[in-house]
Amino acid sequence: MLNKEAEYTTGSPELDDLIGPILPNSMLLIAGHPGSGKTSLASQICYANTRLGKKCLYVTFYEDKGKLYKNMSKIGVDFQSAEEKGFFKFVKLPVVSIESFLKEFASLVEREDFDVVVLDSVNPVLELTEKREEHRAILLNFFYQLTSSIIGLLVVLAEVEARGENVETRPIDFVADAVIYLKHRVERGMLSRIMELRKIRGLPLQTVEIPFVIIEGKGIRVFKPPKPGEICPGPVKKLSTTIKEFLEVLGGSLKTGNTLLVSYPSWGRTPLTLLPLVDLAITNDSKILFVTFLYSPDVIEELLTGIMQNYLNFEAELAREVLKKYLHIASFNPSAYSPSHLMMLLADLIESVNPEIVVFHGGEVLAATYKGFSDFWINHRNLMVWLKNKGKIVVNYFARIDPYWNKTLEAVSDLVVRVYFKREGNGELHPEFLVWRQGFHPQVIGFKSEDMGKLASYSRDLAKLAKQRLGEGSERER
Ligand SMILES: Nc1ncnc2c1ncn2[C@@H]1O[C@H](COP(=O)(O)OP(=O)(O)OP(=O)(O)O)[C@@H](O)[C@H]1O
Ligand SMILES: [Mg+2]
Repeated sequence: MLNKEAEYTTGSPELDDLIGPILPNSMLLIAGHPGSGKTSLASQICYANTRLGKKCLYVTFYEDKGKLYKNMSKIGVDFQSAEEKGFFKFVKLPVVSIESFLKEFASLVEREDFDVVVLDSVNPVLELTEKREEHRAILLNFFYQLTSSIIGLLVVLAEVEARGENVETRPIDFVADAVIYLKHRVERGMLSRIMELRKIRGLPLQTVEIPFVIIEGKGIRVFKPPKPGEICPGPVKKLSTTIKEFLEVLGGSLKTGNTLLVSYPSWGRTPLTLLPLVDLAITNDSKILFVTFLYSPDVIEELLTGIMQNYLNFEAELAREVLKKYLHIASFNPSAYSPSHLMMLLADLIESVNPEIVVFHGGEVLAATYKGFSDFWINHRNLMVWLKNKGKIVVNYFARIDPYWNKTLEAVSDLVVRVYFKREGNGELHPEFLVWRQGFHPQVIGFKSEDMGKLASYSRDLAKLAKQRLGEGSERER
């Protein structure tokens, strides 16, 4: 949502929040490496403001109009329609002399009442000033005057060499009200995009480096590092289960904002860890987003349908319908992304699916892939805190491949379930759960063959409830 005080938006609620209200007569400098996303961010700012009824002018020296419109349309920026509605104007200027630039630019801005003006980029003009020192002062003064007298928001882009910082942008830093510096880092072939907020007039800067991502069809997404308990998750909702034994394992109740860690040996698992998910979904009419780093979505689908059929005696059709109604399954291969990139894709997916329960399955793949990555823990933790603040229930499934990660994740969870397998007198292996919940002593809960029988006795209740819920759903659709 747009800040009420703000006159302008960046098109990203998180970024608006971070840099505070953009008031009229401000200059924003977007500096960055080649390909870091300057044009994308400036275009998004332009487009988002045209949607608020503002008139925007985009001035460039190099960008080709057709190419820019086409590329930006891929990130949700529709310059074509904004132009047709009279809210957007694209102008390409030749690079001739500093005098002609100042004249042309000023007359363009003055000819129509533009609210937002973008200059992509300032580098060719800055290069022109290299020949005569006083030209630089004239240029800076020109931007300063333009911002304070005519334009609402002036967005100036500056390219900085990929090798470190170029002192060339420094004089513009000085006249800008806000400076956003875009960078990218490549670690083991994986790209991380970082936005550094260098200076925001009137705001004490606490967070300087913020990860961001450019999402196909959506644009730039910024992840504002959350603080524990920053946002009130609203009224606490308690979730229950139909199979009472599960509630015992879950410590009596499961509350919104709870984080669970379920771990098992690397060599063995039990469907009993996934089964409560089905129960929780049906009993509480709760949507689950199931993210797996280990399998493809169809394997999880098959696994869950099989569990419902074998352990709850659900008919195949009912199992499929339950899955369709309650589960959104997505699969990610962590090797394709940097930790921050993956975290933001997940945050984006969680926002669009908006489930009550978020499941991360195969956490060991994350730990193995990102072993040694400096920002893995920070990103993981940020995502967990963000989810807690949103009141989501998070269930992490993790094979114990790495004691360090296992212990660290357990230490920050509200409920810990460690699955072990114990050999009985008859040689059979039975699962045993070591359970710890915040505010309680740890306890051991065993599960024998006869308990499986008890499970099945609840299945009729659960199937009945499922059918009722599915019926309610189709009733509402009609
Ligand atoms: N549809 C898309 N989806 C996701 N990312 C995209 C998409 N299109 C472009 N990108 C990414 O955006 C980056 C280019 O962004 P942009 O052109 O805004 O950067 P720039 O800083 O203006 O670059 P330059 O210095 O070349 O002008 C590329 O790294 C590219 O990977
Ligand atoms: Mg560009």
